[in-house]
Amino acid sequence: SRVEYLNYAVLDDHGWDLDDDDLFGKAAEGDLDHEDYGEFLVEPHESLLEAAENRGFMWPFACRGGACANCAVIVKQGELSMPVNNILPPEMIEQDIRLSCNGIPVTDEMQVLYNVKHLPELEELRL
Ligand code: FES
Repeated sequence: SRVEYLNYAVLDDHGWDLDDDDLFGKAAEGDLDHEDYGEFLVEPHESLLEAAENRGFMWPFACRGGACANCAVIVKQGELSMPVNNILPPEMIEQDIRLSCNGIPVTDEMQVLYNVKHLPELEELRL
């Protein structure tokens, strides 16, 4: 799968909205660092987090076991499996929040916002 990624932390800097349908278009033209925006391929045996790490990126994580939500991402396009989830309530899954530590892309193309652990509702969840 080909994954286009964007760091949630840069949205504020640019005044971009999470719900903007053209968010990734703006990011593509935004002259961002490779660490904040770009794409990579995920091999079939890799979780999304592992793939990011194997390509040299440092995405947030802690437990690697589906229990902390530090590794949370928002899936803007495509779908990420979530075999282990002991933290996200149904309403967050409904908002396309997923766990990258064990999630595996199930579509050929994906767009994901990583580093969303700073979303207010996720901060609360981790208290
Ligand atoms: Fe803890 Fe993914 S690293 S849920």
